[in-house]
Amino acid sequence: MRIGIPAETVTGENRVAATPETVKKLISAGHDVVVEHHAGINAAYIDSAYEQVGAKIVDDAYIGSQLILKVRAPQGSEIQKITANTTVVAMFDPYRNTELESFAKQNITSFALELLPRTLSRAQNMDVLSSQANLAGYKSVLLAANEYQRMFPMLMTAAGTVKPARVVVMGVGVAGLQAIATAKRLGAVVEATDLRPTAKDQVESLGGKWLDIPMSEEEKQRAADAAKNGYGWMPGEQYIKDQTAIVDKAVSNADIVITTALLPGRDAPRLIQAETIAKMKPGSVILDMAVETGGNVACSKCGETVVTDNGVKILGIPNIPSTVATEASALYARNVFNFVETLFDSEKNILINQDDDIQKALLLTYGGQVLLKRG
Ligand code: NAI
Repeated sequence: MRIGIPAETVTGENRVAATPETVKKLISAGHDVVVEHHAGINAAYIDSAYEQVGAKIVDDAYIGSQLILKVRAPQGSEIQKITANTTVVAMFDPYRNTELESFAKQNITSFALELLPRTLSRAQNMDVLSSQANLAGYKSVLLAANEYQRMFPMLMTAAGTVKPARVVVMGVGVAGLQAIATAKRLGAVVEATDLRPTAKDQVESLGGKWLDIPMSEEEKQRAADAAKNGYGWMPGEQYIKDQTAIVDKAVSNADIVITTALLPGRDAPRLIQAETIAKMKPGSVILDMAVETGGNVACSKCGETVVTDNGVKILGIPNIPSTVATEASALYARNVFNFVETLFDSEKNILINQDDDIQKALLLTYGGQVLLKRG
């Protein structure tokens, strides 16, 4: 099996889908690996490091490869280069990808890593959403701190006392928890909230204060049902009203706000309204990690820093994992390797097995069909 590692083409994407560590494992398993010239350079994996473990550096890794490993799904002219019956493993952004029909038409088998059933314990080491969100949560606090013109920790100096920063984290999944831990380590006072009441204990165990939103018995049941899949639920009118009021109070007094709330397959929920931003202090910073899927914050713009009339900076930084590309690639490449390893039969050929829970969930296009169920 010839496995190709193309360079990423999306602007600002610094990650690479295989590192010398995982390429070495693929070669040890009996495969040939070709890596496109400079595919890893933005993540600090240079061509010679791949060559040292036995990979061949090529100008075009699509040519002749039966398995393509990528960070982002191939697009446009990249798709045209892929021959029938090739398998592609990548993050496809499946619910927003408008080119899935092209993959199907060309009889490409594609696996979207975002569709992993995360509650399956044997899938945990393949979970790209978790590995990337963890790093993004950490880096989001550093990016916000860099824009904030004050300190995070309390300092007692001869020239007077410096107050600790007040940080609010909205959405306490993998990224939110790491953001809380990072802000606490930097010395901030942290408050946090999430749709999932089970996140309360996790917030408190990291030293954060839980912002409690009242829930009806019916909402508690819906939250419990949704928790079986690990995700949030669609809140009703009263919950949103209460949440808005509680968030308004906490965010108005905050110095830094990090929002991470996502709903798989849907637009991100709007959690911070323009009226709340108008009450914040000059110099406060909001970082909207959901900016690529519609945003949690009124006025946030993807790829831009918006400064409001009252002096609040709203950071709309896309693709934060790409700003820690070395580590993000190392974890992503291991996730990819752990999944890909399960695809091969004893002859080292790819065997599509739709009875396998993981393969079945990830399979996006196969046999000329788009298999994704939108809903
Ligand atoms: P995510 O990135 O999809 O969303 C981030 C957070 O935003 C979630 O905690 C979600 O509840 C929250 N959120 C969504 N809408 C909201 C709203 N309107 N108001 C407030 N908060 C809102 O979530 P992520 O990081 O992917 O994690 C989701 C869950 O899955 C977590 O419980 C996580 O611990 C769990 N998980 C479980 C795994 C396993 O069992 N192996 C593996 C990975 C994650």
